[in-house]
Amino acid sequence: MKKILITGGAGFIGSHVVRRFVNNYPDYMIVNLDKLTYAGNLANLTDIEDKPNYRFVKADITEASVINELFNKENFDAVIHLAAESHVDRSIADPTAFVMTNVIGTVNLLNAAREYWKGSYDKKRFYHVSTDEVYGALGETGMFTESTSYDPHSPYSASKAASDHFVRAYHDTYGLDIVVSNCSNNYGSHHFPEKLIPLAINNIKNAQPVPVYGKGENVRDWLWVEDHARAIDVIFHQAKTGQTYNIGGHNEWKNIDLIHLLCKIMDNKLGRTEGESAKLITFVTDRAGHDLRYAIDSTKLQNELNWVPSLQFEEGLEKTVEWYLENEGWLSDVTSGNYQAYYENQYEGR
Ligand code: NAD
Ligand code: TYD
Repeated sequence: MKKILITGGAGFIGSHVVRRFVNNYPDYMIVNLDKLTYAGNLANLTDIEDKPNYRFVKADITEASVINELFNKENFDAVIHLAAESHVDRSIADPTAFVMTNVIGTVNLLNAAREYWKGSYDKKRFYHVSTDEVYGALGETGMFTESTSYDPHSPYSASKAASDHFVRAYHDTYGLDIVVSNCSNNYGSHHFPEKLIPLAINNIKNAQPVPVYGKGENVRDWLWVEDHARAIDVIFHQAKTGQTYNIGGHNEWKNIDLIHLLCKIMDNKLGRTEGESAKLITFVTDRAGHDLRYAIDSTKLQNELNWVPSLQFEEGLEKTVEWYLENEGWLSDVTSGNYQAYYENQYEGR
């Protein structure tokens, strides 16, 4: 049996990774460690929470002593590290939380791995999940490859860049078995409605203004979250030590075009006349230091590990809209704050 620590498993991407590993690998024990910040929601995992190969631990990765104690007790075989502060706008408002969790928290996990895996680094693995935003911004052309120089602009991407460097430094300096992946923007179910797609779905549904920053000319490269989770699975099991893989869907959209597509899908699903939802689009002040364009070249992952995205964007976006409309309770619990009571009701005292 392999015991794997997945951090940030109550968040958007982490919950998809936890679900995939719990369902696909019944002989692994999956320990989900999460602080349950505003972005952590155990209701994301109700379908697997009672499985015998799953356990939840509420903990904060910035607390080194708690992390050390857990490593000492559990004898993990691997870490898949997703816990992070993840929203660029929040990082602009308050960078310190990003330094604490993304940098210090990652170093705390690395220190614990270094200490408790001593003598068996060849049998253990530390997988660090990161973002394409560490590469900075592209102009009209070009793509990020694994050898693109780091050039982060936002406090979020600066903190993720720092954490990536620390992970690689622990490989180069101490010989820890590490892998890193840098992924483009994800979309799909269980996405917290502060990010563009779920926020727009929620606002369109409620006939509220849909804020588009600047002129909506910024470009993002969107990947279905379950394709990301599958890429993490493949890289975790097959990558050679010290490797980095870019993950992306070759799926670039200008924000304004994406929002128009979303409005069209929502008109259709909500029985509105075509063009009605688009009237909600509201151009607002641009984000400070807004990166113009991201685009990922994932050729290395395709050629070496045979991974390709499975879903076309239009299909994925339609599935995503359907999920939000069918899971109104999830959305209203998140927007009202009720979801934060889930831990107390379901877990405390277990
Ligand atoms: P998210 O904000 O939805 O979830 C983050 C999770 O981490 C939450 O459950 C939160 O409670 C937990 N967490 C935060 N601080 C913690 C702490 N101090 N201790 C323990 N747990 C803590 O984020 P996400 O969008 O699922 O992103 C997951 C990872 O993937 C992040 O590392 C992010 O940088 C990376 N990533 C995200 C995207 C994207 O499009 N969302 C793209 C590429 C990479
Ligand atoms: P976001 O989902 O926050 O992801 P990231 O900043 O990590 O790429 O934003 C995606 C794009 O949408 C980005 O260019 C900023 C823009 N945006 C808006 O135009 N309006 C919004 O309300 C939000 C949250 C984002």
